[in-house]
Amino acid sequence: MKLVNTISEVREATAAARRDGKTVGLVPTMGALHEGHLALVRRARDECGFVGVSIFVNPTQFGPSEDFARYPRTLEADSRMCREAGVDLVFAPDAEEMYPAGFAAWVEIGGVTEMLEGEFRPGHFRGVATVCLKLFNIFRPDCAYFGQKDYQQLLVIRKMVRDFDLPLQIVPVDIVREPDGLALSSRNRYLNAEERRAALVLSKSLAEANSAFDSGERSAAAIQCLVRAVLDSEPLAETDYAVVVDAETLLAVERIEKPAVVLLAVRIGTTRLIDNAVLIPPLT
Ligand code: PAJ
Repeated sequence: MKLVNTISEVREATAAARRDGKTVGLVPTMGALHEGHLALVRRARDECGFVGVSIFVNPTQFGPSEDFARYPRTLEADSRMCREAGVDLVFAPDAEEMYPAGFAAWVEIGGVTEMLEGEFRPGHFRGVATVCLKLFNIFRPDCAYFGQKDYQQLLVIRKMVRDFDLPLQIVPVDIVREPDGLALSSRNRYLNAEERRAALVLSKSLAEANSAFDSGERSAAAIQCLVRAVLDSEPLAETDYAVVVDAETLLAVERIEKPAVVLLAVRIGTTRLIDNAVLIPPLT
């Protein structure tokens, strides 16, 4: 496995892979890797001849009062995990490599960026879309792998690929959870023991939504109420949003007659966690 810091080294390695007739898979990450990231890597390993992982804590997707400075940076452990998972190339650029002096181009996606995370984190998706477009141009992957954990991000990236006719396939990967239900996240390491316990309220509320839906509940408002009640029962949890919306457009729905998604953003102490569950009505 190669660990490189420059765009030209990535171009060389991916060009060589393509000359050998290999397909290129890309897993974009911000590092502090865990089993969730590794699920993306394994999927890429199964499907592609060459697997690249980018590790870059992207400053442009963090708001001024967010956790950019304290975001965990664990490059040594990350590259060990990548090597063990059979990754061919890790790209870990510094900020100057990605945003040289004078950088002034931004990708603005409309629609699905405007609500929820877009409202609570102004500018976040502009930073995500911009860095992902750069990574797509640097690697020129055939496939790029994204987790369903960041549901809205996945929709934003798909929209960018569709609207700009980018020549790659976006592959979604299911959420990986701890045995007790907590969705894996690099931010889980901020939680102390008491907060870690309280954080279970997210997956518990989604389990409640799933079981109501499975018992035939089709009112989005009713499911939203159930979810809220579970979240409100945890004194350490402060909910930013908890909604049941259309799974494609993220717009409000009344009755769930096509796929919907429960989207949560909850603060536990100073740690902000997101999670979701897709509700798919069975064909009748
Ligand atoms: P990061 O939070 O490091 O996540 C990298 C990828 O791993 C994302 O596609 C995310 O959805 C996926 N992922 C994280 N936790 C997961 C879990 N528990 N199960 C499944 N997949 C999971 O998302 C970003 O970085 C950045 O915004 C990025 C796309 C790299 C742009 O900077």
